[in-house]
Amino acid sequence: MKALVIGGNGFIGTNLVEGLLADGYQVRVLDRYPSRYREPFAGVEYVVGDLGNHGDVISAVKGIDHVFHLAYTTLPQTSNDDPVYDVRSNIADTVQLLQECRTASVKKVIFISSGGTIYGVPEKTPIPEDHPTEPICSYGISKLAIEKYLNLFHHLWGLEYVVARLSNPYGEQQNPNSKQGAVGVFLGNIQQGKPITIWGDGSVVRDYIYIGDVTRALIACAKYQPGPKDHRVFNIGEGKGCSLNQLIDALKQVVDKPVEVVYTPARAVDVPSNVLDISRAKKCLNWAPEMELKEGLSRSWKWISSLSLV
Ligand SMILES: NC(=O)c1ccc[n+]([C@@H]2O[C@H](COP(=O)([O-])OP(=O)(O)OC[C@H]3O[C@@H](n4cnc5c(N)ncnc54)[C@H](O)[C@@H]3O)[C@@H](O)[C@H]2O)c1
Repeated sequence: MKALVIGGNGFIGTNLVEGLLADGYQVRVLDRYPSRYREPFAGVEYVVGDLGNHGDVISAVKGIDHVFHLAYTTLPQTSNDDPVYDVRSNIADTVQLLQECRTASVKKVIFISSGGTIYGVPEKTPIPEDHPTEPICSYGISKLAIEKYLNLFHHLWGLEYVVARLSNPYGEQQNPNSKQGAVGVFLGNIQQGKPITIWGDGSVVRDYIYIGDVTRALIACAKYQPGPKDHRVFNIGEGKGCSLNQLIDALKQVVDKPVEVVYTPARAVDVPSNVLDISRAKKCLNWAPEMELKEGLSRSWKWISSLSLV
C-alpha cells in the first residue's frame, strides 16, 4: 500500500509517518516545510509543496492508495480573525484535492477533522457523532464543510473516505511554541522556567489523547472497509474528561521542575467542556486508546526535556 501524508512533517504527521512505515506502507509526504524536530525517515519520499498548488497536488496523488489529509492553514482560535482565508485556503484547496484524488483513482481519503470544535457547545457529554454540529469558530465550520464535501464526492463519484474527529492529541513532536496544544505548550514553558497561562479559572474540560493512540486510530481508519451504509465519521479521543486544573496537577507529578500558573480571562472561542463518545470507533475500527495520561505525560516531558528551547 502506498500512502500520501499531506502535512506529514507536522506533529501528527511525523508520528503517523512513523506508524505507517512500521505497518509496511510505502510513504510519500507533501508538506510546505521539513519536520521541526526530527530528521527525515529513511525510505520516505519527501515532496516540498503546497496543498494550494494544483501542480504539486496532481503529482503528489499519482500512484497513491491512501491519502491522509492533515494540512491545515488555521487554528481554532485564529480562524475567526480571517474567516475568508480559512474558507479559501482550507475548503477550496481540499475540494481541489478531492477532484485530483478522483482523477488519480485514489482508494481512500482519511481526513483529520476536529472533535473539539465541530460540535460547538455540547448539549450532552460524552459527545456522540450524531450530536448537533454548531461550531463557534470558523475552523470548526471549515472542517465540517470538508466533511460534507467528502460525503458528496463519495455519493456522486464513489471516492471512499473516513473522517477522524480528533479531540486533543499530545505527545512527542508536539510543538511547544504553537498556539494550539495545551500539553506541549505547558511542558515547553515548564522546561524553560516560564509560567503557564490558563485562560479562565481552569475548569475547562478537554479530552486528551496520546499521539501513539491517534496514529493507531488513523491507520485503523485507512484499513476499515465500510459497506455502503456503514459509518464513515468517527470520534477519536480518550473518551475521558480532564480539566485544565487536573492536567496541571498531573503535570506536577511527572516534571522535575517548578510549575507556576497564571490565570487570565476566559476566551470566547473555548467551549466549556469537550469529551468525545468513542464507542463507534471502538466498535467499527476495533480500536481503543491504551495510554494512561500520567505515562503519556511522562513520555512527553522526556521528549520536551531533550529539546534545547529558547
Ligand atoms: N493538534 C491538535 O490539537 C489537533 C486537534 C484536532 C485536529 N487537528 C488537525 O490535525 C491536522 C494536523 O495537525 P498538527 O497538530 O499535526 O498540525 P501541525 O501544524 O503540527 O502540522 C501541520 C503540517 O501541515 C503543513 N501544512 C499546512 N498547510 C499546508 C499546505 N497548504 N500545504 C502543505 N503543507 C501544509 C505544515 O507545514 C505542517 O507541517 C490538522 O488538520 C489539524 O487541524 C489537530
